Amino acid sequence: MITVDKVNVSFGGLKAVDGVSFEIPTGRITGLIGPNGAGKTTMFNAIAGHVPVQSGRILLEAIDITRLKPHQRAEKGLARTFQIPQEFSRLTVLENLMAAAAMPLGENVFNVMFRRSRFLGEEEAVYRAARETVTFLELDRVIDEKAGNLSGGQKKLLELGRALMRNPRIILLDEIGAGINRTLLVKIAEKIKLLNRERGLTFCLIEHDLDYVSRLCDGVVVMAQGRLLMRGTVDDVRHDERVIEAYFGGGKYEAQG
Ligand SMILES: Nc1ncnc2c1ncn2[C@@H]1O[C@H](COP(=O)(O)OP(=O)(O)OP(=O)(O)O)[C@@H](O)[C@H]1O
Ligand SMILES: [Mg+2]
Repeated sequence: MITVDKVNVSFGGLKAVDGVSFEIPTGRITGLIGPNGAGKTTMFNAIAGHVPVQSGRILLEAIDITRLKPHQRAEKGLARTFQIPQEFSRLTVLENLMAAAAMPLGENVFNVMFRRSRFLGEEEAVYRAARETVTFLELDRVIDEKAGNLSGGQKKLLELGRALMRNPRIILLDEIGAGINRTLLVKIAEKIKLLNRERGLTFCLIEHDLDYVSRLCDGVVVMAQGRLLMRGTVDDVRHDERVIEAYFGGGKYEAQG
């Protein structure tokens, strides 16, 4: 689905992504792991068009999207969630979902407020899709709650819902499971699996919890210090010396099995 080909992203002198190549296979759930500061979020930003790449190419089903704007990539079926949820805190859950359908992720909030009355009145289909998304994510109890009042975990679910409202073929999930309780974590995993198996959605997810990654992902890509360290199954990478070294520096610790 996605091909990352020798991509470089620098911030001043810092090479946040340094010559990285890998693929995100169609119909699979791929994990992107690595220690803090490895460049994982920057890699997602590059794929989604939120940072410019200095060199290299990003392909979406063999089409070069490297120079496209985020909303153009979204129109081609690419969605992403943010490590820090980007909900509009003063809009309700339902309104947030409707807004997501009408705009590229990351667009200015004022445009949305301005257009809100229009699509609330007109877009019956968007309204129905938003209600279905609420039900699918089991957010019915908070459908009219202001998003700012949701728990951290509910915000993560809403973040997934906002991505779904774009009708994507692939979703990049940036630490959607981080900092949320076990029950909600299991629920999110179930939703991801359902979307993958029944709707054929492709996923790439960044997550630090390797048990979670191993339950969800078909394969993983490991980054460290901006570079691609290795690819394989979770079991392969868990026992790989280079990965243990990257995570624990010195390799004195056993990877948690
Ligand atoms: N917009 C930016 N401007 C300058 N430096 C940045 C920017 N975004 C990221 N960086 C730097 O790039 C490096 C990679 O950051 P990135 O956020 O991609 O890491 P990460 O693997 O997602 O880490 P984490 O697991 O902590 O989320 C870090 O050194 C970070 O400080
Ligand atoms: Mg990150």
